[in-house]
This record gives sequence, structure tokens and C-alpha cells, in this order.
Amino acid sequence: MADAVAPLLRTEEIGKTFKVQRRHRLVTRNVDFVALDKISFQVRPGETVGLVGESGSGKSTTARVVARLLEPSTGRLFFQEEDITHATGSTLRRIRSQVQFVFQDPFSSLNPRHTVQQIITAPLVYQGRPVPGGARKFAGDLLEQVGLDPDHVDRYPHQFSGGQAQRIGIARAIAVRPSLVICDEAVSALDVSVQAQVIELLRGLQREYGFAYLFIAHDLAVVRQVAHWVCVMSEGRIVEQGHRDAIFDHPQHPYTRTLLEAVPRIPSDWVLPGRSGHHPAPAQKHEGEG
Ligand SMILES: Nc1ncnc2c1ncn2[C@@H]1O[C@H](COP(=O)(O)OP(=O)(O)OP(=O)(O)O)[C@@H](O)[C@H]1O
Ligand SMILES: [Mg+2]
Repeated sequence: MADAVAPLLRTEEIGKTFKVQRRHRLVTRNVDFVALDKISFQVRPGETVGLVGESGSGKSTTARVVARLLEPSTGRLFFQEEDITHATGSTLRRIRSQVQFVFQDPFSSLNPRHTVQQIITAPLVYQGRPVPGGARKFAGDLLEQVGLDPDHVDRYPHQFSGGQAQRIGIARAIAVRPSLVICDEAVSALDVSVQAQVIELLRGLQREYGFAYLFIAHDLAVVRQVAHWVCVMSEGRIVEQGHRDAIFDHPQHPYTRTLLEAVPRIPSDWVLPGRSGHHPAPAQKHEGEG
């Protein structure tokens, strides 16, 4: 990756080991499980790094370490060139306010008993910061920025569709004007047309406010639309990283090629599902077919 601009975030051979219990015959032992092994990458201001790889490859763990919700076991982590590998107290709080998350399921990540206004202003309130212009106007302005009706600040999450709820999750994430937004499968649960709208929103917000994104997704087609750089993870390691076009057009690592080959090509006569899980399913077969 080019070095013209100082990185916002940089990891140097980060490792993360968890103590897990392994049972063999009748004996249970504590063993070390290496979830991350020598992870080195960087995110520059205003750019998007896509993180892809199969389930369990360490994507979310990388995100949690980068946001310092977890402490790295080895290696070093820099935020704006400051070593935050083992930061604590006020330094840690300052970094965490610079890094916000958008998760996969908006309904489980938004408090169902809070109004949109409470949800959107919560990060500021939590940080003890004043809400500029008053909570109602502040929340309304943010709703407008994410393409929702500013008059809906008194509504509750269940009164919105999945795509709208994810927009509220995005509004909450950007309320504190972070420099990095981590999207962990943020559009994976949305159906295809809504997914495209939310991706467009994220790109628009990046253009306007200069957020950097760490964009985690199973769906390589989605990553290709949003990421400037791509890191491919397998079994806790980054096996390949580079510019989006290089990774997609000239993958070097066999694992990357396997991932790319696994991208489904959807026949045009397939019926795409409505609100659903991860993957488009083929249309139901009718009796007597095939
Ligand atoms: N707190 C923990 N204790 C023990 N093992 C953990 C812990 N957190 C994660 N792991 C393990 O680390 C590995 C990486 O998990 P991680 O959640 O980062 O994968 P992922 O790439 O995000 O997968 P997915 O695509 O399914 O979300 C997995 O084997 C997981 O079981
Ligand atoms: Mg994950």
C-alpha cells in the first residue's frame, strides 16, 4: 500500500491467543488457541479496507483488537502513529470514541426500549459530551444524514424496517464523528436492493465526512463495491493483501482464488428472497421438475 498519507491505523504483527478448554478422553485441559497470527495491515484516513475470509478466520477478532476492545497478545497497534497496544484509562477512552461499530443485526444492536433520539445521542451522553444544538435537533439532523425522516426521532427500533434500522445504527456510529467506522457484516442481513442503498449511503458519508472504514463481509461482490484495499484472512493470518483490483483481477494466493471461485453467479431467473439470511437461495423447485 502506498505511503503518501500517514496511516490512521496500523498493526504490526498482531497476535491474539485465547485460553480455551480442550477435552480429550476424560481430561479437560486449558490450551492456547491462536486466533490471530502476525496480522499486519493499515487503514488510511478516508479509505476503506475490506476484510474477507471464511467463518472463524479471525475477522471479528481483528476488529475487536483494532478497536482495543481486546488487548493484543503480541505485536503492536498504532492509532494516528500513537502506540496504543496496551493503552488504558483516558487514552483508551479517547481511542474508542474515534472507532465506532456497525454490526450485522440492527435490531439486536439497538436497544428496543430506547427511542431513536436516545439511541443516537447515547454515545455522546456516555462520553459525557454535550449534545450540540440539543438532543432532538441533533438526532433529527443525523436521521436526515442517513436518509430517514427527522420527525421520527421519537420512534422505537421495531417501528422501522431492517434497512431503516441499519441506517439508525449508522447514524449512531457517526454521531461522535469517529475517524474509523468498523462495519462487521453490516449489510449481510439485508436483501439485495436494500443492501445496495446502504452501501451507497456508506460511500456518500465517506465522501462527505472522510470516515475510514474497516469493512468485514463474506460477500466478495459487496467488498469489491466498497473497498479500496482488501485483506484476505485464513486461519488467523492475512494470506494476501493489496489494492482491490489486484486482489480481484490477479489473485496470487491459492486461498484467494478459491474464495473468488466460490462467489455464486446468480442466474437471472433465480428468485431472490425477501428479508432473509446471508445468501440468496434458488427458487423453489416445483413438483415434477428435474
Ligand atoms: N473470546 C474467545 N475465546 C475463545 N475463542 C475465541 C474467542 N473469540 C473468538 N474466538 C475464536 O477465534 C476464531 C476467530 O473468530 P472470529 O469471530 O474472529 O471469526 P470471524 O472471521 O469473524 O468469523 P465469522 O465470519 O463467523 O464472523 C474462531 O475460531 C473463534 O471461535
Ligand atoms: Mg465475525
